[in-house]
Amino acid sequence: MNRKYRKTLIAGNWKMNKTPSETKQFLMEFKGMMPKGRWCDIAFCVPAVCIPAAVRAMRETRVGIGAENCNANASGAYTGEIAANMLVDAGCKYVIVGHSERRAMGETDADVNAKVKAVLDADLVPIVCVGESLEQRELGITEEWIAMQIKSALNGVGENKIKKVVIAYEPIWAIGTGKTATPDQAEEVCCAIRAVIRKLYDAKIARAITILYGGSMNEKNAFELLAKLDIDGGLIGGASLDAEKFVKIIEAANQPTT
Ligand code: 13P
Repeated sequence: MNRKYRKTLIAGNWKMNKTPSETKQFLMEFKGMMPKGRWCDIAFCVPAVCIPAAVRAMRETRVGIGAENCNANASGAYTGEIAANMLVDAGCKYVIVGHSERRAMGETDADVNAKVKAVLDADLVPIVCVGESLEQRELGITEEWIAMQIKSALNGVGENKIKKVVIAYEPIWAIGTGKTATPDQAEEVCCAIRAVIRKLYDAKIARAITILYGGSMNEKNAFELLAKLDIDGGLIGGASLDAEKFVKIIEAANQPTT
């Protein structure tokens, strides 16, 4: 983290877990345990049907609610889909875009780019996910692959909009496997992502962009990961479903930084 230049964000990604009633119960419990003081930004990205309950539960707190996906179109004949402006009206602040689990369902780089633009047009914060497979890591093409994902995701995103974007580095092999990237491995890629942003925009923008790590981040490894200069927070799956663990991760974000 480098709090002097950029925001720290601890965001949960609930994936397909919890009902609206469970959301209400969980967040009420979390509210009572939330660390006092403004240490970092906090978000829960929840299933679409849970958004109203989550927004209600977190009203008048500093916790932002996010969606896990959205459609790139503004409206129309897209049965089952949800547009960014609907998420705004429901009280969302964030939208996860391009999660590897959605890419595995067929989402392309072009889809991700269109969604990023739609989310930014609606004035929401896209949390853009990138990450390599184990095979790509073993082939030694991690950084090239991620640079390509970032370039495609941000294609046509101007300097006035990039400031809102959050990037999440999530190595696919570390998601839900209990196999975390080591702090050095995660830092290396987050640092390379910042270099890509520097090339695409400029040094000031690169210095200010928030880059998260995701992939089996938990209450035990968060401190070490967040101690790295280019890791500005976490996108947390499993451990965000447990209030105590999630609070410990937020507390790890309160460590002194250089
Ligand atoms: P886990 O923390 O469960 O590995 O999930 C990470 C993730 O995919 C967050 O988006």
